Amino acid sequence: MYSVLDFAHHLTARALSAGAVAIDATVGNGHDTLHLASAVGPGGHVHGFDRQAIAIQRTRQRLATAGVAERVDLHEASHATMAATLPKTLRGEVSAVMFNLGYLPGADHAITTTPETTIDALEQALAFLQPGGVITVVLYTGHPGGSAEARAVMKWAAGLDQAAVQVLSYRFINQVNAPPELLAIHHHAA
Ligand SMILES: C[S@@+](CC[C@H](N)C(=O)[O-])C[C@H]1O[C@@H](n2cnc3c(N)ncnc32)[C@H](O)[C@@H]1O
Repeated sequence: MYSVLDFAHHLTARALSAGAVAIDATVGNGHDTLHLASAVGPGGHVHGFDRQAIAIQRTRQRLATAGVAERVDLHEASHATMAATLPKTLRGEVSAVMFNLGYLPGADHAITTTPETTIDALEQALAFLQPGGVITVVLYTGHPGGSAEARAVMKWAAGLDQAAVQVLSYRFINQVNAPPELLAIHHHAA
């Protein structure tokens, strides 16, 4: 079976084709940004957000090493600034948006995503999504604040209009130590 992270990569890769536009809402160490940059190819583009400079630096290095830096714009800013930061022409044009919530491994664990800004950013991401596009959200319930955030995001997602989007919850129910969970929001194809 796919791990939560592998399944997020599978779903986003399926939604992306050469020349597509994608957003990484939480770049962190850059694994997801690199995945998106590879999937959109040389003619595509990725916008990445993280509010920590260290995350932006690590990701810039990872992308440069892989030779894909020129197809990625990294924004050292909250994902809640997405609508203000990205060109309005991208609305309805983005094929995949990835969120990987929580804190940055190997940095200050006190700096985490928060329910209010996460849901604000998810609402903004929906406005950028094109028909057939997907938003993936990796949720962590095993750290302080994480389970409250996961509950808030799940409640928000459960209320989305089924005529517009399909919402999938993917989680392993017999694993110990509160494993991560995946939420995927698929915009119906036109
Ligand atoms: C679990 S890490 C992301 C891992 C990353 N996707 C990867 O592949 O390595 C979560 C990241 O969210 C970032 N973050 C926290 N609050 C944020 C916000 N409001 N906007 C954007 N990023 C935020 C943290 O700085 C951290 O780097």
